[in-house]
Amino acid sequence: MTLDKVTDIYDLQKIARRRVPRMFYDYADSGAWTESTYRDNTDAFEKIKLRQRVARNIDNRSVSTTMIGHDVSIPTALAPVGMTGMQHPDGEIHAARAAEKFGVPFTLSTMSICSIEEVAKATSKPFWFQLYVMRDRGFAADLIGRAKAAGCSALVLTLDLQILAQRHKDVKNGLSAPPKPTIANLINLAFKPAWCLGMLQTQNRSFGNIVGHVKGVEDMSSLGDWTNSQFDPTLDWESVEWIKKHWDGKLILKGVNDVEDAKIAAKLGADAIIVSNHGGRQLDGAAATIDMLPPIVDAVGDQIEIHLDSGIRSGQDIFKAIALGAKSTFIGRAFVYGLGAAGEAGVTKALQLLKKELDLTMALAGETDINEVGYQNLLTPPATARKVFVPKAKPEAKAPAKPRAKPAAAKPAAAKSKTAAAAKTTAKRTTARRKPASKKTES
Ligand code: GLV
Repeated sequence: MTLDKVTDIYDLQKIARRRVPRMFYDYADSGAWTESTYRDNTDAFEKIKLRQRVARNIDNRSVSTTMIGHDVSIPTALAPVGMTGMQHPDGEIHAARAAEKFGVPFTLSTMSICSIEEVAKATSKPFWFQLYVMRDRGFAADLIGRAKAAGCSALVLTLDLQILAQRHKDVKNGLSAPPKPTIANLINLAFKPAWCLGMLQTQNRSFGNIVGHVKGVEDMSSLGDWTNSQFDPTLDWESVEWIKKHWDGKLILKGVNDVEDAKIAAKLGADAIIVSNHGGRQLDGAAATIDMLPPIVDAVGDQIEIHLDSGIRSGQDIFKAIALGAKSTFIGRAFVYGLGAAGEAGVTKALQLLKKELDLTMALAGETDINEVGYQNLLTPPATARKVFVPKAKPEAKAPAKPRAKPAAAKPAAAKSKTAAAAKTTAKRTTARRKPASKKTES
């Protein structure tokens, strides 16, 4: 299949499966243990039903918005993905270039193949950097300094991987970067000539942010062994404060999937949280993120910007996340499959697909501005929406006896013919979004 015949992310996945060495394709397409959370993440999206609205003027639509004050052409960012440069030679550079041309943030993982400096050299706009905290806090401080020097405009701190969960396929495949020359690997690589040729043409074949930067670390090819010996299991909220102070810039906390944690994160004064279960790759048995979104929005939606990842495979999934109260989303596998299929062009294709699906869904749901999408677009708004947003004795909840004249300065959201509950929901979410959006726009 060629790129012009691709109709959805799953087509890109099929091509990637053919082109990417098995151990790296499997690395991306894996969940922890039974993979129940990995499956739930996508299944939960499918269960959400939308309201089909008709006979509304749906001309002149816009799917652009902001993430922590940065303009984005669609409400998504490329999530940090370890070993992206093994999905395609120089993969991080290809993905970052596609993202900057498309107008969405690219987040470089600490466990990337191309280093912070390599990606900075190959791009022209600031990207975001994801931090894993090592036992050696000096190294964490060093990484923060390198991200600052490279002009990174946000730090994404991952909180749900102090220790690596087990993904069975990685163990069975002997995952390493670069792959070890075992007979099984050599046979598999023989069927991936384009990947091998590209790899021969680049020097970026190991963990670029680590090798050569940590004393005594020359061979860290096994991700599992290395993370489990070097990642800091003592990382706690105090450590998060320490990192916040050191970084002193826009901070996003990734891996929050619980109401209590979301409350702590909001109190800490981060710029955003990512409701994430690491794509089902960490705690097998954790709830799907889209199911956890409503109670988290209910608890902290008016205090902090909320993003969501894990399970997004279409623009319609993005729409559902926004309708349920997320300001924006992150995609991991959805862009990695594009990258594995066709490098930069494949990532661009993935983003184009998502944009088209998002726009079409929005139109058929009767909306024209992604910033006004909300609970009113869901067939069944979440229980928390009813509990919190349906006022009991407030005058605006009652249907007026006669149609009232619109107040002259009514907000567009309130002026639309929505239920009182939905209008109030939008008003609350608009307030929550306005705070970060009023800060200086950077990228
Ligand atoms: C983290 O980088 C992972 O492997 O999920």
